[in-house]
Amino acid sequence: MRTINIRVNGEAMSRSVDDRLSLADFIRDHCLLTGTHVGCEQGVCGACTLMLDSKPARSCITLAVAADGAEVRTVEGYDDDPLMRAVRTAFNRRHALQCGFCTPGMLATAYDILSRIAELDRDRIRAELGGNFCRCTGYLPIIQAIEDVYAQRVQSVVSKPVIEAAE
Ligand code: FES
Ligand code: FES
Repeated sequence: MRTINIRVNGEAMSRSVDDRLSLADFIRDHCLLTGTHVGCEQGVCGACTLMLDSKPARSCITLAVAADGAEVRTVEGYDDDPLMRAVRTAFNRRHALQCGFCTPGMLATAYDILSRIAELDRDRIRAELGGNFCRCTGYLPIIQAIEDVYAQRVQSVVSKPVIEAAE
């Protein structure tokens, strides 16, 4: 067991955890934030993606102890965020979710794409979504939802990213 200090959605917490506990299980079982979904548990499907120090991370293959001192943002942590509000609205409008199992990870990745990359096209969105699997939608509505928010951003409805991707 080890004590970790971590901020989750802005709230500081200190917990004693097993060395082998995954961050996903810590978020779900210790923080009771069940919006982070666990699918493959092997770092492949992307369902468990959350933000770790403002970068997307697969929480199923990240140990909770490795997140000691870090800032974690889960799907529950965006309520006042205008970009995430725009992404959620676009997902709803485009019917970009059906069962919703992939959706928390998709939202995190979509948020990352839109906040990190200044110039987007469909091929780039497809490539960036390559680590998030969806068994329901066929991906097109998800891509269209991201395109919609990108178009709003181009029209300055949603603020532009401050960081361009390191190519
Ligand atoms: S559950 Fe983490 S990548 Fe699939
Ligand atoms: S909406 Fe069902 S897996 Fe994506």
